[in-house]
Amino acid sequence: MCGIVGYVGYRKVVPVLLHGLQRLEYRGYDSAGIAVLDSEKKKIVVEKQVGKIKDLQEHLWGKDINGNIGIAHTRWATHGPPSIENAHPHTSQKDEFAVVHNGIIENYAQLKEELIKKGYVFKSQTDTEVVAHLLEEYYQDNLLNTVLKVAKMIEGAYAIGIISTLEPDKIVALRKGSPLIVGLGENENFIASDIPAVLEYTKKFITLDDEEIAVITKDKVEIYNIKGEKVEKKPFTVNWDIAAAEKGGYKHFMLKEIYEQPKTITDTISGFFSDLNNPVYKEMKNIESIVIIACGTSYHAGLVGKFWIEKYAKIPVIVDYASEFRYRDFPVNEKTLVIAISQSGETADTRFAAIDAKKKGAKVLSIVNVVGSSLSRESDFVIYTYCGPEIGVAATKTFTAQLVTLFLFAVKSGFERGYISQEDFEKIHHDVNSLPSLVNEVLKEDKNIENISYKYHNAKDFLFLGRGINYPIAFEGALKLKEISYIHAEGYPAGEMKHGPIALIDETLPVVCIIPKDSLYEKMISNIQEVKARKGIVIAVTDSEDKEVVSLSDNIIKIPSVKNENLYPILSVIPLQLLAYHIATILGKDVDQPRNLAKTVTVE
Ligand code: F6R
Repeated sequence: MCGIVGYVGYRKVVPVLLHGLQRLEYRGYDSAGIAVLDSEKKKIVVEKQVGKIKDLQEHLWGKDINGNIGIAHTRWATHGPPSIENAHPHTSQKDEFAVVHNGIIENYAQLKEELIKKGYVFKSQTDTEVVAHLLEEYYQDNLLNTVLKVAKMIEGAYAIGIISTLEPDKIVALRKGSPLIVGLGENENFIASDIPAVLEYTKKFITLDDEEIAVITKDKVEIYNIKGEKVEKKPFTVNWDIAAAEKGGYKHFMLKEIYEQPKTITDTISGFFSDLNNPVYKEMKNIESIVIIACGTSYHAGLVGKFWIEKYAKIPVIVDYASEFRYRDFPVNEKTLVIAISQSGETADTRFAAIDAKKKGAKVLSIVNVVGSSLSRESDFVIYTYCGPEIGVAATKTFTAQLVTLFLFAVKSGFERGYISQEDFEKIHHDVNSLPSLVNEVLKEDKNIENISYKYHNAKDFLFLGRGINYPIAFEGALKLKEISYIHAEGYPAGEMKHGPIALIDETLPVVCIIPKDSLYEKMISNIQEVKARKGIVIAVTDSEDKEVVSLSDNIIKIPSVKNENLYPILSVIPLQLLAYHIATILGKDVDQPRNLAKTVTVE
């Protein structure tokens, strides 16, 4: 939800800001802008444009903006529609301060009223503009002190970057609730919402914690707490490659990320096994119940994880939407483990639900991709998935990595609790190691899936069906299709179909049926017969070559067989990612940045 980037150093600032914005565009893309302390004109120059970063880039062509310090923003509208006025950065009345902001200032209306009474004129409908005016109102002779004062006045969630003509050598940044990192370079320093924004300049970072303020010049970074006391922070280094944040010859990030899955699964498996001393496993002996909380695709991973944890670790699991769990009175105690799953580790609903559960006495384990993210730091335990940055807004490689992590977590917990022998543990490890090459097999179906997509891309609706451990994959297939192609789609447990959705079926409805050769195969055959009897179009995702499946299906997408049937979801989801991708590209949709969506949802 909005991305911010800032630079102070020796380089020309405009290209650094634009590169940073391009890498943050997945966070929001309805308008963008930059503010530069122009060293020649000795003032803040602000340029904004509605639309994507490339529109801002075109707008800036031929403009002579000189400076080595600036801040920039890509917006996902919350207060006020996308427009030049509402785009960030926002400036104060006398143009002495410029501000970029990710988050929501909840008490902005009241602050705005007070400022208007004092004579301030507002140019935008945003909540952010109050910050610029507050800085001007309270500045005496020290920007840090002014920011400390303003920070105490504003309520809500925010990551803010500030520059000022009054102290033109620095950026001041503050954070509460929204992500913000400081990138450390040689004679240059950065702020950004996320690591990829500045990865081509540095791999060394500090994460700001809530209510911390950074004062950043080109050769110094100082961090303060809200009381104005200096805080020592330990920098960390990421080993992400800049290539991971680029398309690498693929037409879209989403396609690249789908194709990266053999590698990301390999990395996630080895990351998991290098972390077997994670203290969470000792805790597993005491745990009596598990609640998995997450949103969107991560929630679907949780639904699959429930099957594995109940099977291998023999602990009852409930799975809930984080946004719902937070607002019901669910009893937890110290024997409850709450597993919060989040690619970004910044999703507000998931974070706040986890924080509440922890306050009530539960232990919190997070499964997170982004190292150092808020959720990972707010949890008692963390297991990372090792996917590198995921730029496509639709989650793909991080979903399969979450699945692999949940599977291994379930097995390892079963081992710690005495339900799985060392020998079985090793056998299962061996099965998991076969996944990357099996995923490569699935990817060979790409052309077939593209052909199927050409046949059905004009369908108005799609139905996705699966049973047992594969029913959450039906949910995920439907979500992928609707979010990037805007075609209405529903996922259902196949056995539930006859209780309602069967009424939808006619000769125009493509029904994607996930039917691996597992213990529910025969049941799934019966469900497909029900679809066929109502003239539905069957697209089967299967490893079976039985006559029955062949004769019932209009189209077949092959997946390889796997020894351990519990692993099928990790394979069966990949054709559905490709199906959504191809249908959306045939329809000419922007698959990496679908309308109305943002990669990281830091508002409730
Ligand atoms: C769908 C998608 C979203 C996210 C959801 C949670 O493709 O990406 O549904 O899964 O917003 O995000 P994280 O996992 O970052 O908490």
